[in-house]
Amino acid sequence: MTPARGKRDLLSVQDVARDLPALLERASRLKADRRAGRRRHTLEGRTLAMVFEKPSTRTRTSFEVAMSDLGGRALYLSSTDLQLGRGETIADTARVLSRYVDAICYRANSHANVLELARSASVPVINALDNVEHPCQIVADLLTLRERWRRTFRGRRLAWIGDGNNVLHSLLLGAAAVGLDLTAATPEAHRPQRPIVAAAEALAATSGATLRFTTSPEEAARGADALYTDVWVSMGDEAERADRERAFAGYQINDAVLALAAPEAFVLHDLPAHRGQEITDSVLDGPRSAAWDQAENRLHAQKAILELLLPRRRR
Ligand code: CP
Ligand code: NVA
Repeated sequence: MTPARGKRDLLSVQDVARDLPALLERASRLKADRRAGRRRHTLEGRTLAMVFEKPSTRTRTSFEVAMSDLGGRALYLSSTDLQLGRGETIADTARVLSRYVDAICYRANSHANVLELARSASVPVINALDNVEHPCQIVADLLTLRERWRRTFRGRRLAWIGDGNNVLHSLLLGAAAVGLDLTAATPEAHRPQRPIVAAAEALAATSGATLRFTTSPEEAARGADALYTDVWVSMGDEAERADRERAFAGYQINDAVLALAAPEAFVLHDLPAHRGQEITDSVLDGPRSAAWDQAENRLHAQKAILELLLPRRRR
């Protein structure tokens, strides 16, 4: 396709902080449409390239199905099959893909790779997870919370228990943007990165959200309206597995921790789960698990994101 001017990327939640209410409203509408069997081909004839340097079940599938439902198509491009895997630069890959497709989503080993692809691409680039952020996940998470809290985040408290990782970074930014109070319990050595916390605090100053940090899972869970956890060992952290398993040993959502939360509280997990580590079977499979709705919501959220970023076609 002809490279577009004024393209818009989603590299961090910060890029859509102001759009979150509209994105959630649109995702919710698209979910209702799908359930009613209505399909709107708002992206007819559009193509999304999906460059993946790491494995994926949910992100890959939800983007592919989203494009197909909206009348477009998606191309899955594993980095090991591309010339990228043989040393072609990220910048050259971006320039070439921009001549064929309308947008690129990229699951990358590093945030620097995502920034480099976005700099050289003339079409929108969507961060499909890197080591610093997972912005698309957080749109689905906020959708899940909003559904269960009758469309408002005001006065609600979410507790994160686990690693100060990419998902927590995006969640901090997302919660701060929508005015949701968040308490994050992480080991001291695994706190979220300072620049992200500073950016989230700046957003919170406007929305009225409160962000708190502790090393105590129990303190975070007490009275919370929802609990959220993620793996102790993210993709790319495998060399630290033994140290991490020691450091995170007390950071598990189990029945005892869930009992500290509000009576109606429920549990989020972005998945994949390492059962028996950050979450027990009884919680993940239990009646208070929202993880399966959350996984489904990736599909509806991806559609809203794609519609927002892909420029309308001139007729
Ligand atoms: N939650 C999430 O991004 O899952 P995948 O790694 O399967 O895409
Ligand atoms: N923090 C995890 C999220 C997986 C969806 C990882 O980066 O591996």
